[in-house]
Amino acid sequence: MSAVLLAIFIASALGGIVHASQGMGAGYFPNTPLITHEGRRVQFYDDLVAGKVVAINFIFTSCSDSCPAETARLVRVQEELGDRVGKDVFMYSISIDPEYDTPEVLKAYREKFAIKPGWTFLTGDEDDIIILRKRLGLYMEEIQNDDGDHNLTFIVGNDRTGKWVKRSPFDNPKVIAKLIGYDLFDGQILRKNAKSYADAPDVPDFSTGEYLFRTRCESCHTIGGGEKRLGPDLLGVTERRDAAWLARWIKEPDKMLEEGDPAATEMFLQYQEIAMPNFRLKKEEVGALIEYLENESLRIRG
Ligand code: HEC
Repeated sequence: MSAVLLAIFIASALGGIVHASQGMGAGYFPNTPLITHEGRRVQFYDDLVAGKVVAINFIFTSCSDSCPAETARLVRVQEELGDRVGKDVFMYSISIDPEYDTPEVLKAYREKFAIKPGWTFLTGDEDDIIILRKRLGLYMEEIQNDDGDHNLTFIVGNDRTGKWVKRSPFDNPKVIAKLIGYDLFDGQILRKNAKSYADAPDVPDFSTGEYLFRTRCESCHTIGGGEKRLGPDLLGVTERRDAAWLARWIKEPDKMLEEGDPAATEMFLQYQEIAMPNFRLKKEEVGALIEYLENESLRIRG
């Protein structure tokens, strides 16, 4: 990687918008051969990126902590962008575990999350994909830990302008949608369409519990929202569930499922076997979340 490109990726790792008018196009991105969840053979740069506005992340479907959360977050981004996804904005999730993640496995995973067209899942050769991740600046060995956790970022960019930005999946989906669909977008967007991306709320003074809920939980759960998300509505959950059970579930849902906890298993089967992620929350954070769930339920019920 040249010094200039290295600088660009360091800048992008810090979250700023980077301008790279040269070197980021055809010559920079590899034409990694990949296979889509529909079994179609494609080349990374030519077929997926050239001339497009894209969002790219890396996942593996057997992952029980970060990936379902990241996927859920991106489902919200896709909702925000509506039918522009697949037309002038494209989303890609590439497997870092190609041996397990065959096109069939990816197709089933996509369906489980009710993902709409315009967002393609891809697999390929493991070594090729590592090279691709390094190229995109989404491969950092030091972040890779023994739990198989992987770098929690994705990259969005516009190949036409050479503007690329890294983002954390915990960012507000409205803000990400605005970034992809408006800030990065160099085409004509009618003012009235643009407006819907511009109404992302400012960051108000949230309590710890509310902040955690909004950044970690809201993509899969409502509290008395009535809207269908990937997990159950949490209105009144602190009354419905035993306090110790609830605290442990929020802390380590994966362990409870592993142990075959009956209530957890029943829920898991009911919710398309989408695993609630283990966020490795601290005890105080779990406490703050429970307090928020309780207060918010009281507030909504009035
Ligand atoms: C990727 C989606 C996802 C995210 C993100 C997520 N959950 Fe869940 N959650 C689920 C699913 C799905 C279930 C149902 C059980 C299962 O399938 O594992 C569930 C179940 C629950 C339950 C049990 C509900 C009941 O009726 O007993 C609670 C409580 C809960 N989640 C809290 C949280 C909290 C708090 C967070 C944030 C720290 C969170 N969840 C983040 C998907 C998610």
